[in-house]
Amino acid sequence: MRTQVGIVGAGPAGLTLGRLLELQGIETVIFEARSREYCEHRIRAGVLEQRVADLLREAGVGARMDAEGIPHGGIHLQFAGERHHLDFEELIGRGIMIYGQTEVVKDLTAARLESGLPIHFETPVESVDPETGVIRYAGGELECDVIAGCDGFHGVCRGAVPARMFEREYPFGWLGILAQVAPSMDELVYAHHERGFALLSLRSPQLSRYYVQVAHDEDVAHWPDERVWDELRARTALDGWELHDGPVLEKGVTGMRSYVGEPMQHGRLYLAGDAAHIVPPTGAKGLNLAVNDVRILAEAIVDGGLEHYSGQCLRRVWRAEHFSWWMTTMLHRLPGGDPFDEQLQLSQLRYLTTSETAARSLAGNYTGIETV
Ligand code: FAD
Ligand code: PHB
Repeated sequence: MRTQVGIVGAGPAGLTLGRLLELQGIETVIFEARSREYCEHRIRAGVLEQRVADLLREAGVGARMDAEGIPHGGIHLQFAGERHHLDFEELIGRGIMIYGQTEVVKDLTAARLESGLPIHFETPVESVDPETGVIRYAGGELECDVIAGCDGFHGVCRGAVPARMFEREYPFGWLGILAQVAPSMDELVYAHHERGFALLSLRSPQLSRYYVQVAHDEDVAHWPDERVWDELRARTALDGWELHDGPVLEKGVTGMRSYVGEPMQHGRLYLAGDAAHIVPPTGAKGLNLAVNDVRILAEAIVDGGLEHYSGQCLRRVWRAEHFSWWMTTMLHRLPGGDPFDEQLQLSQLRYLTTSETAARSLAGNYTGIETV
């Protein structure tokens, strides 16, 4: 069996690549370890850069996003008992789209199935050979001109690229809930608080997505719903404003790390998305980076220039790595509670909310920088 491009993983990276190549008449086969049901219900990111939303539209998979997604023009930063709005539209003329990763995955999967193109769920890839382009999976082999390693941080492709690894682990994590209640705020709230960071986000007019900073190895069993709501209320409290609670539909703890493997390619194998790099979620960059990688990969497969793929991606990747690290270290309570660090954080937050120049820099990075 042969194909032009073998894609390992049906997350946002693999599915978007499949769609972009389909539109260029290039043959692809997608392998996914998990079931369709599992992939479509794995709750993760929720913020799309405007350019990523545009790419999904151009790829013909933006209709439901435009109907159900919620465009936001900025975010709030909260610290020292004050909430400040950063108006991205006014600062740089771009915004973001609130639309869950689960929904992006559903739309791309439906489009692929409608086109009748091969996507093999519950078919884990066992190994890939960057020299010959062979993908080995349970029950067979596929020979490819190009292998796209889109199988995330725990996949098999990452290990097949001899890469230099750059890594940072953070001594905290996020406990996230999805709650059936209308969001209590108009736009996302990133809150710095002495009890720890909190983030108020959403998935729809009826679904709120809220997070609190916890220990990186926190046991979710120690967090009954009431404790989560109490902690969210304490960290986001504001005079004249109230956080409404509701039934908790999902609850989980995510660890935080920064990771880059360089280069992102070896022989016929090209890594994209979380297989090549991880960012902590504070900058909302993970999903956006994955889509930006495959946009570059699809262009290189169609127009040539694959040898420049890794170099082209890494400039944007490192910008996002820096931004995500910066947002993370500015907003979280650092274990050990160094008062000097805390004053630096507060000063930086004050600067962002009083200097238009500083605010514009955050806005540009948050909504996605085109050229780095
Ligand atoms: P993935 O979405 O990880 O997709 C990889 C796919 O490959 C998976 O479907 C997997 O099942 C499959 N796979 C793995 N191994 C194999 C194999 N051997 N054979 C075949 N298939 C395989 N980002 C944010 O911006 N905000 C967030 O709130 C946020 N929350 C997150 C929470 C969690 C728990 C995680 C893990 C990530 C989160 N992220 C978040 C990051 C964001 O979701 C990722 O950056 C994004 O999913 C990257 O897409 P991807 O397609 O590269 O990888
Ligand atoms: C989310 O809605 O899940 C979300 C939003 C912004 C982030 C991280 C996660 O920075």
